[in-house]
Amino acid sequence: MVADETHREAGLVNMQANALAELDLYLPSMTLNDYLCDVVPIHPLLVSTLDFGRPDADKALRELTSTTTEFDSDVTGRGDSYRRAQRDSSVRWTGIRQLLEIASESATEPGPPSQPRTVLDVLGGDGTLARAVREQATDLSDRVSILTGDLSGEMVERALAQGLPAVRQAANHLFLGDCAVDAVLLAYGTHHIAPQHRLGAVTEALRIVRPGGRVIVHDFDTASPMAQFFTGVVHPHTEAGHDYPHFSRELLTELFDEAGTPADVVDLYDPLIVRGATEEDVRRRMCDYVADMYGVRAFFDTLGGNDTCWRLLEQYFTHEEYLASLPDRVDYTPHPIVYPAHGAYVAEVPRSALVAIAKKVA
Ligand SMILES: C[S@@+](CC[C@H](N)C(=O)[O-])C[C@H]1O[C@@H](n2cnc3c(N)ncnc32)[C@H](O)[C@@H]1O
Repeated sequence: MVADETHREAGLVNMQANALAELDLYLPSMTLNDYLCDVVPIHPLLVSTLDFGRPDADKALRELTSTTTEFDSDVTGRGDSYRRAQRDSSVRWTGIRQLLEIASESATEPGPPSQPRTVLDVLGGDGTLARAVREQATDLSDRVSILTGDLSGEMVERALAQGLPAVRQAANHLFLGDCAVDAVLLAYGTHHIAPQHRLGAVTEALRIVRPGGRVIVHDFDTASPMAQFFTGVVHPHTEAGHDYPHFSRELLTELFDEAGTPADVVDLYDPLIVRGATEEDVRRRMCDYVADMYGVRAFFDTLGGNDTCWRLLEQYFTHEEYLASLPDRVDYTPHPIVYPAHGAYVAEVPRSALVAIAKKVA
């Protein structure tokens, strides 16, 4: 596709700050122009959904290109180690699968039901969810087609390097057209969206989803063991800290009410699951995964070994009290366990997430 045509398709033709497309680096090694000419045309999902010509797009682009996030690299926070942990897409598959099943049930028109539902993964990182579908469930890849979004240029560039369609954008200003996708997912990091931008993020999600489509917001309850781990371990033991307010059932409900589309808020079992040859092996692998995912390796190294690290996980991820406080009875695994399965061993660290599901009406 020639440059002018790509620009027109992506709504850039009338963009006031067209010069910005040439000058600033939209991705670490690419201007917006490069992205539009060299990347967009090879991904039909980008061609059919992007719109950089919306009001204030130039302002949003300027903000974006001057943003550094803790997920860029280990120098700015925990980007490299986070991506290292995500190489194994099976660990969070239980939760990811349930979220994508919910997204795939979006009943939008037009399009035959046999066509995959297009899902924007707003906080998509380097494409963990898209990769997980590819690696863990070919049946789901017939039903969902994922577009990875992220604030971090490093994350987006790495998603693109794996052949995944991806766009750099902030959750509260999406470079997608109205009614462009079948479902929108904000998950695994929604607490990173600043409180003053959360309503904007939900409003944007509702704008770009088709009527009948679902907007799904996933996060961990402030009172949950996961949030306590962030407060008690991640925040004090990482350079970037983790001072991000999590959600509550009430806050999620209010957010969608304020956006004008009510949501159901449900609980979701979202464990970390690691497989290995021996009990010792799976405990070590789990400690390794958590160390990288949450950027706490230096702290874990001071604990004196995997047994102490595992005991710390047992201390933080014990869910009995939290599960008893839920409005409905659930049969989640209540605390970290190691068990034999199919001639190997499994380590399972439970996590209970909150999920708001809203359906856009016409
Ligand atoms: C915990 S990571 C999750 C990545 C991926 N979904 C996964 O599960 O591996 C959170 C991601 O959200 C991105 N992020 C944080 N704030 C954002 C915002 N306001 N808009 C878009 N992305 C954001 C970060 O750059 C980061 O890649």
